[in-house]
Amino acid sequence: MTTENPARTDSAPLYARYPETVGKVAVVTGAARGMGAVFVEELARRGVHAVGGDLDGAAMKQLAGQVNERLTGTEGAARVFGAEIDVTVAEQHQRLLQTALAEFGRVDYWVNNAGIFPQAEFTEISPEQLTSTYQVNVNGVAYGAQTAARHMREHGGGAIVNMASVAGVRVRATRAAYNSSKAAVRHLTSCMAVELGSDGIRVNAIAPGFVDTEMTRWVREDPAALERALSAVPLHRVGAPIEVFGALYFLLSDSARYMTGAVLPVDGGSQHA
Ligand SMILES: NC(=O)c1ccc[n+]([C@@H]2O[C@H](COP(=O)([O-])OP(=O)(O)OC[C@H]3O[C@@H](n4cnc5c(N)ncnc54)[C@H](O)[C@@H]3O)[C@@H](O)[C@H]2O)c1
Repeated sequence: MTTENPARTDSAPLYARYPETVGKVAVVTGAARGMGAVFVEELARRGVHAVGGDLDGAAMKQLAGQVNERLTGTEGAARVFGAEIDVTVAEQHQRLLQTALAEFGRVDYWVNNAGIFPQAEFTEISPEQLTSTYQVNVNGVAYGAQTAARHMREHGGGAIVNMASVAGVRVRATRAAYNSSKAAVRHLTSCMAVELGSDGIRVNAIAPGFVDTEMTRWVREDPAALERALSAVPLHRVGAPIEVFGALYFLLSDSARYMTGAVLPVDGGSQHA
């Protein structure tokens, strides 16, 4: 099936509001661009202070400044603070936590969003590619969640959300490193949920499908690749970051208070196709 504009997304605003989240503080990694950038802005728009951390510290700080400017005058809006972090270095998560505490005085939510998406045929995957993919996508999530959990268990609990992917269950060729790293994120989410529940910490994951960000720009720019990708999406369009935010905001909120260890697909149905 083809459509007139197969790359179209639906970026219409999202009206969901969870008043109990107002005044809370979220840390989001990989927030200088893509989904993370939308997450910090949409949280702040709804009164949740957000600390965005990114490998590109300059872009992260610039993004935070731009968001704060855009939200100036928006009733009930909170602020975004930008900081540099390399999620592959465990100690840097501790520094990000301290930054959030210094800036906003508390940390209630932690979103392990930073990720990389390298591709290579299986026999061509280099040791460096395998190592860096696992370091960012798996170790980065584990270090972030450890840091968050150590803090949250001393402060009445909290909610952690990890970014998995449909790739963790529905594999495509040339992505073995990425696919297996995202399968690990799903499994880590279950492990954390089991261990941290008694500390009042909920740990869930989101498994996006094909979402409109820099990470997937190359697909949208190659008509054949785009058609191939969309042929495996029952809703037959690319997802918008705001549509992933809808799931994130829900998982952080009290509406999800009996949910832990869940992996929410936000993929237009592609895990089934
Ligand atoms: N876009 C999609 O279609 C899609 C689908 C499924 C899952 N995901 C996952 O969602 C998350 C966000 O994806 P996106 O599309 O917004 O990606 P993106 O490439 O647009 O942004 C990722 C951000 O992470 C940062 N980052 C990379 N390595 C880092 C490190 N070591 N430390 C700190 N920050 C680092 C980058 O600088 C960038 O700002 C990723 O985990 C990705 O795997 C994306």
